[in-house]
This record gives sequence, C-alpha cells and structure tokens, in this order.
Amino acid sequence: AITDLAANEILDSRGNPALQVTLTLEDGTTAVAGVPSGASTGAFEAHELRDGDNTRFGGKGVWQAAAHVTDTILEALRGMRADSQREIDTRLIELDGTESKSQLGANAILGVSLACARAAAAFHGLPLFQYLGGSDAHILPVPMFNILNGGKHATHGPDFQEFKLVPLGAPTFAQALRCGAEVYHALHDLLVAKGLSANVGDEGGFVPELPSNEAAMGLMMQAIERAGYKAGEDVCLGLDPAATSFFADGRYRLERDKLDLDSAEMTAYWAEWVDRYPLVSLEDPLADNDWRGFAHLTSVLGERVQVVGDDLFVTNPRFLSRGLAEHCCNSILIKPNQIGTITETQGTARMALRAGYTCMVSHRSGETLDTSIADLAVALNCGQIKSGAPARGERVAKYNRLMEIERQLGASATFAGKTAFPRFGQ
Ligand code: PGA
Ligand code: ZN
Repeated sequence: AITDLAANEILDSRGNPALQVTLTLEDGTTAVAGVPSGASTGAFEAHELRDGDNTRFGGKGVWQAAAHVTDTILEALRGMRADSQREIDTRLIELDGTESKSQLGANAILGVSLACARAAAAFHGLPLFQYLGGSDAHILPVPMFNILNGGKHATHGPDFQEFKLVPLGAPTFAQALRCGAEVYHALHDLLVAKGLSANVGDEGGFVPELPSNEAAMGLMMQAIERAGYKAGEDVCLGLDPAATSFFADGRYRLERDKLDLDSAEMTAYWAEWVDRYPLVSLEDPLADNDWRGFAHLTSVLGERVQVVGDDLFVTNPRFLSRGLAEHCCNSILIKPNQIGTITETQGTARMALRAGYTCMVSHRSGETLDTSIADLAVALNCGQIKSGAPARGERVAKYNRLMEIERQLGASATFAGKTAFPRFGQ
C-alpha cells in the first residue's frame, strides 16, 4: 500500500524546472518518476501547472504542482495498492475534476501515475515493460532518430522541427541504434566538411543554416550514404514539421523557402517530398486545427506514408475518435504528459492500434532521465519510438534502456523492423 509521496523541483534538459515524484510503499519499496515538458505543444494538451511567479525561473517553477502531490494527492491515495493503476488514475482524475487536469496539474498527476506503475512493478519483481504489458510484451520498437533539428527546437535552423532517420532494415534494436549513431556522426563530419554549423538543438540533432528546407533532406541522404548504409533499404526517413508552429491566419509560412502556402499547396509540397525521398513517416504535416486538410492529405498520401497525428490528437481519445471518423491520419503519436495518466495513455494507444492505426511512443523536447517511455513502447508492442538524436544523456537514456530490455528478453525479443510500417517500407 502507498504510504508516502515526495515531490521535488528538478531541472529538465532545457534547464527549466520539472517535477520529480518519489513514491513509497509500506514495505519500503520506493520508485521515482520524472515528468517531461514540450515546446511545440498542442493547444489541447493536458495542463502543465507552472507557478507563474516571475521572480523564479521566469514563472516556470513547479512548487504548486509539487505541493498538490504531497498534500491533496497523498491524502487521497494513502493506503491504496500501487498495483491498482486504473483505480489510482481514476481517483486522480476525479480529484482534479477538470477536463484539462488544470486543478492539480497534469505534471503532478502524471508524476504520481508513473511513480505508482514503477513502484508496483518493483513490488512484484517485474521490469516495468512486463508489468505494464504482460508476458506478451516482446517487440522492440524501431527508433526514429531526430538528427537534424529546426522549428521551435532550434534557432536559425530549418522551418521544420525534426528530420529523422528510421533504421527499419536493422535486425535488432542494438544494431538500429548503432546505425543511428554512425549516420549521426557522418552527418557531423559532412557539416564540418561543408563549413556548416554542427551545433545542436533541443533534441540533440544538428542545426545547420541552410538555404532551403529541402537542403536538409539532401544532407540526410548524403549522411546515410557516407556512413555506408543504403537509403530506402537499411534506413528510411521520417519528418515532424510540427506545422502548427509556422501556421498563421490560414497560411503555412516557410521562411527558408520564401513560400506562403494554403493547406492544399502545403499538401502538394509534401507529396513532392514523398515522391523524391524514402519517407515512411510524416508527423503533423499540417496545423492542429486543419482537420479538413488532414483528411485530404491522408487520402492523397496515406497509402504511401504513415501520417502521424501529434498536436492534432494530443494522445486524447476524444480527438482520436474525431480523427477516425473523419479519416484524418493513419498513425498517432503517444505522449503520456499530453493526457496525464498511464491508464489513459495506454487506452488511447490501444484504441488507435485496434482501429488499424500505427502508434509511435514519444519523448518531449524537454526531458528528464526518466526512461518510462522505453518500457511503455515495449509494453504496447507498438513497434515505434522517438527519443531524439542518438546523443545527449536524456535522449540516449531511453535508447540504452531499450538495449537493456532487448538483452533481458534474449531470444524472445523481436525487433519490429519493417513490420512496424505495415503499408510501407516493405
Ligand atoms: P515537443 O516536440 O515536445 O516540443 O512538443 C515534440 C514533437 O512535436 O513531437
Ligand atoms: Zn510532433
């Protein structure tokens, strides 16, 4: 049974305050969870509670969220079994009482929800992925390595947020990780050779100043070749333009390309890239209120590329339902802190998988050393994860955890590879 909760303000990978929750059980078992934070957030994400006291961390402190954990939440959960995750999460949701979890803060709620899962796993002597996913959890996800950063995660970079390597041809997760690291270093050397900046953005990818957005695609292709891999076979590409970040007044404004496009023109732009490059995944190619545009884009490109809803769905079953009804996307990004509890996160992912959507578990641009998303991806057997570049401690913590899980599973570990993309990359 739960006997104690502690909450601390720590720093995330961007140097902003983040919440860390420690949960203690009657038998002395303790578990720690860290809560991440996004920069290009969806408008309908669960509410991240910040103190708003501008004399501390520019208002970004999380003392209030911490106090909710140690006062209201501890009071409500004390004595409950940690392994009653659904009951605990339901109690947290009721206790908060708002649609957006703004009363207690989604950061407070997720920290507790995650710490519960970790404590229960430890109590039962199970690794987290097995506690959450049962004995069938055995699929190691294809990692999407964000090796070239732009948008809101960088300055002076491309308009698009993430240019990703997708090593779906590798035989194991460990070899996919090696491929990612080797191409990452090849890109570094290529940038240096061209006299371009090899400084990095929030997720560890390089941020060169380029004359056009497409120039970044050219660099990706060259880096793959330079590292000795075959584009389209060993490694494909993925993109997360995070299009809401360059959308205003009904127009998509691409500064690097000096273009000002409507929704149909933006879709035509992506169609050309799908023709020219081995793209298997296209996330948030349009803005998060452009539902009609998404339906159109999915009908045009959905047979050739995975169209992933991140800001559009915000891991929320309500928005996913609308997407299913209106045929928007064929894939969903899963971020626990967009919705706020483990139970809801797994529920949304399973709903998407049942509907035939693919599913990618995701970190946030502001991260802690918490590795739960690695376990979550294996628990869901969903076959895809993104955790940034194969570099920087908070990013590789997740990838290293996946290698550990692969070793633990031994012969029963299966790397998702091309099967993670049922319609593409075959
Ligand atoms: P965020 O970016 O964590 O800043 O929201 C990640 C993403 O858009 O997928
Ligand atoms: Zn995204």
